Amino acid sequence: MEILNQQSWGTLLLACVIGLLIYSMEVDGEPVATYLGQRNQFLKSEIGEGVGAKLVLNEKEKRVDDILLAAKRKEVAQGFSETFPPTVNFLTGKPLVEKSAVFDIIKRMPKGGILHIHEISIADPWWVVQTITYLPHLYYCVSDDYFSSLRFKFAGTVPQEKPVACKTEWALVSESRAALGSSYFDQLLYHNLTMVTDQPDEVYPNTTMSWLRFQQALLSLTDLYFSVTSFDLFVKQSLLQMIQDNVQYVEIRTVLFPLQELDGTIHPPEYTLQQYIRIAEEFKQQYPNDFAGLKIISSSIRHPVNRPLIKAQVQLAMDLRKKYPNYFAGYDLVAQEDGGGPLVDYLNELLYPLEVGSDLPFFFHAGETNWQGTFVDDNLIDAVLLNTTRIGHGYAINKHPAVLEVVRSRGIAIELNPISNQVLHLVHDLRNHIGASLIAEDYPVVVSSDDPAAWGSLPLSHDYYMAFMAMSRETTGLTLLKQLALNTFKYSAMTASEKEAANDLWQAKWNIFLDETLAKYELTETMPKEEL
Ligand SMILES: *[C@@H]1O[C@H](CO)[C@@H](O)[C@H](O)[C@H]1NC(C)=O
Ligand SMILES: *[C@@H]1O[C@H](CO)[C@@H](O)[C@H](O)[C@H]1NC(C)=O
Ligand SMILES: *[C@@H]1O[C@H](CO)[C@@H](O)[C@H](O)[C@H]1NC(C)=O
Ligand SMILES: [Zn+2]
Repeated sequence: MEILNQQSWGTLLLACVIGLLIYSMEVDGEPVATYLGQRNQFLKSEIGEGVGAKLVLNEKEKRVDDILLAAKRKEVAQGFSETFPPTVNFLTGKPLVEKSAVFDIIKRMPKGGILHIHEISIADPWWVVQTITYLPHLYYCVSDDYFSSLRFKFAGTVPQEKPVACKTEWALVSESRAALGSSYFDQLLYHNLTMVTDQPDEVYPNTTMSWLRFQQALLSLTDLYFSVTSFDLFVKQSLLQMIQDNVQYVEIRTVLFPLQELDGTIHPPEYTLQQYIRIAEEFKQQYPNDFAGLKIISSSIRHPVNRPLIKAQVQLAMDLRKKYPNYFAGYDLVAQEDGGGPLVDYLNELLYPLEVGSDLPFFFHAGETNWQGTFVDDNLIDAVLLNTTRIGHGYAINKHPAVLEVVRSRGIAIELNPISNQVLHLVHDLRNHIGASLIAEDYPVVVSSDDPAAWGSLPLSHDYYMAFMAMSRETTGLTLLKQLALNTFKYSAMTASEKEAANDLWQAKWNIFLDETLAKYELTETMPKEEL
């Protein structure tokens, strides 16, 4: 029986060889290719979800994106062997940031608005020393706290009473400056008005120490700010620095303290609000293409708990909201949350507007803490139950999945303040900041600066740099920055028509930014441009 002839044997052999080849290709190639395909899909869906991922860039934006991403790649790569600026305390890391090409681009970019910032710590502290403390009639005394901080008062004659904490008598700033030498004295003042130091990790080893110095600096600034003598200068300078940092809009949280005359006369808080409004309107006239406006969020100090005081301030806020709806956005409670006075302590006061059917939007600080399941971070729960419009910080929010759900479904924006959280000890390395996952998961977020003057940062650029470099993928570029800017309008307290006007103003500046960035950085065949 002839089973197979010679030719058939040959065919069989060939088939076996081919089969073996295909088999070995499957082992070596096919599963890997399949896996890589799945991996690509996975990455694509993950990248497709972050803040700004759905934005479609136009041709010009894509060219700027290429420049930005090249700079980011280079700086991230350097971070593997040299100090990556977001990983060190900003008080020492600031000079590193300022060498960055990414930072240069971010500085030039129109960044939209600042939705979380406190009135007294916007103006540059060197400007405060050089301008405000050179005004006549300024007295100071030295307090007996750990840092020997300073208290100030503008007065026509030596003030009758000094603050209880002061261990010295009132002295004229001008006389001490003359006696001690202005360069030495001005350095002292500068260090009193800020947390700036070469050794932050030694001087402020923990939250308690950093907050102590921070609060003392804020007390000094508060003394200097709420005087008829200085107020206009302060507010104008703050707005000027904002537009110089390419910021178009601001919602200022302020305690709305009364302004004091040199003779001791005190104006009501409503007068302070009226001054903000007047200065903002004048500024808008002066810079119609740069400034889209200002709104005020009044803020009470949350501790020591004083419910009658908070009740009165909530009522005042309700009145101001009714009287100045275009400028007065709403109400908040401020000061270190770990120190007490959680929202739940003020339920009667905070539910009062609802009870009497009055409209008072809330913009609560909540969850600015590392604690979990305590009176502090449970503020997040009260903030959303009280229908807060946005959440200040929300640093503890990842520990509250139900709050996260509400925040997403209602579009409650979380105001991230990266540098504040670092300097005040919630997180050392900003790559570990909660903002990274909130951005990756496309939660409603805005980036803000909280108290930039206290640590010597610009009104917004340094914080945008941190969010961009430390809280997003190496491959995430202009889409994130653009969306962050757009979010500041989207989640602002502006009306629909105000938002439209702000967007138009911003868009014009955005187009200029694109052209300028291309002119400075894009490589052309004829002319090599600036090194990234
Ligand atoms: C503030 O000024 C006082 C008095 O000049 C000085 O003793 C103190 O060291 C200064 N504090 C800081 C934090 O620089
Ligand atoms: C914080 O640091 C200061 C100064 O070193 C120290 O006296 C204090 O006990 C520390 N506080 C906490 C809560 O760790
Ligand atoms: C919050 O909003 C809900 C839904 O509109 C409403 O039922 C509730 O009374 C509001 N609560 C407060 C404190 O405003
Ligand atoms: Zn704040």
